Amino acid sequence: MSQGLVTAAYIIAAVFFILSLARLSKQETARSGNYFGIAGMALALIATIFSDQASGFGWVILAMLIGAGIGLYRAQRVEMTQMPELIALLHSFVGLAAVLVGYNSYANADSVALDMHTIHLVEVFIGVFIGAVTFTGSLVAFGKLNGRISSKPLVLPNKHKLNLAALVVAFLLLIIFVKADGSTIALLLMTLIALAFGWHLVASIGGADMPVVVSMLNSYSGWAAAAAGFMLGNDLLIVTGALVGSSGAILSYIMCTAMNRSFLSVIAGGFGTEGGVSDSAEETGEHREIQPADVADMLKNASSVIITPGYGMAVAHAQNAVSEITEFLRNKGIAVRFGIHPVAGRLPGHMNVLLAEARVPYDIVLEMDEINDDFSSTDVVLVIGANDTVNPAAATDPHSPIAGMPVLHVWEAQNVIVFKRSMNSGYAGVPNPLFYNENSYMCFGDAKATVEQILKAL
Ligand code: TAP
Repeated sequence: MSQGLVTAAYIIAAVFFILSLARLSKQETARSGNYFGIAGMALALIATIFSDQASGFGWVILAMLIGAGIGLYRAQRVEMTQMPELIALLHSFVGLAAVLVGYNSYANADSVALDMHTIHLVEVFIGVFIGAVTFTGSLVAFGKLNGRISSKPLVLPNKHKLNLAALVVAFLLLIIFVKADGSTIALLLMTLIALAFGWHLVASIGGADMPVVVSMLNSYSGWAAAAAGFMLGNDLLIVTGALVGSSGAILSYIMCTAMNRSFLSVIAGGFGTEGGVSDSAEETGEHREIQPADVADMLKNASSVIITPGYGMAVAHAQNAVSEITEFLRNKGIAVRFGIHPVAGRLPGHMNVLLAEARVPYDIVLEMDEINDDFSSTDVVLVIGANDTVNPAAATDPHSPIAGMPVLHVWEAQNVIVFKRSMNSGYAGVPNPLFYNENSYMCFGDAKATVEQILKAL
């Protein structure tokens, strides 16, 4: 394929990626956004494989078959609740790829034109640094999200100084690397420092700040891909990497704003952990239990209902039963709406995806800011598998580890029914005083089973 054709294909692919991102930002157009992304990637792959620069065609096809086989196998089996950890793992692959591309470019530095040599060395150094940070950071995030590593933040003494020292030493090594016209020792040393830095950066973040880590690593993986693009002289990789890097950065910013956190303090690690994180709920009073049949009676007599789903709804696969209850109540003339917290679940948009899959109409699914003032005029709130995102301590207890994080004001409603299996705390490990309020009732059990019992009783 001629270079002109490859460039044209790259430009079309880049436009497809931009259209994909634009369409993915709205539920109504998200599906077509995915198609644009798939088409852009297919075009990019075809143009790259058949370009004059590519060789070893057989090897490329073999690698693609193995990679695509593993990808298809995993994608078909992965649970929706495992998506964040899978994404974290995929980010680690991008980081590792950038490191490998960097070392390969370093080994083949002789092929670079003389006047570009210094720039190439800087590209290699920065590419390997970003890739190594992304690699270990993503592996730690993977471990934290699937529970293999404690979600509690690691608090090393002088952690900020350690981070700063790592950055300063890496910068000094860059100067040595360039001055020596490429020093393997400097590159290796920096790689080790970057690996430790990435590990420490993410290990120090925990609890309710994890959503920012997920989007931040998304951004890092984009920059790692862009760095690989510079090293390989591949324009499309630079554009695509920059798109992923900047959209991840924007998402991190949105997450931080939604959680009332400062981006810098989150990525520096440990924000919101000073108050300590406990594993189980402390008893702060008596809680009241309610049976599914009584919830059904309460719903029948209500005129307005808000459902606030959380991670537990995803674990229980309760979204279809929830959708059926919604339809039943709406047919009876009861106003039912959903209140979605920006970090509910374990993935940005997690609840929206589940509800869309269960065919809940988009127009009754509202963001936290759109619905928070309406709880006080609502008869019944169903908190289905949500915990941290409805914890009043965030608004009322300045010493709480989640203090300042905006939450859904469910406690302002006339009656609040909490669906969960025990009195345990949520992901952030913070006790939830909501459970002990006078207008709160605990409906214990697996959310799908209890919602189905309510549906039967209705
Ligand atoms: P969580 O605070 O995680 O609480 C979920 C609740 O669901 C738990 O208290 C659990 O209680 C209950 N549950 C689990 N399985 C259940 C089942 N089968 N049936 C019924 N209940 C079940 O949920 P949330 O309110 O959605 O908050 C999300 C948390 O995750 C936040 O802290 C957020 O910062 C963090 N996080 C979010 C993201 C993104 S991007 N959204 C990424 C990483 C971390 P029981 O064990 O008692 O049943």
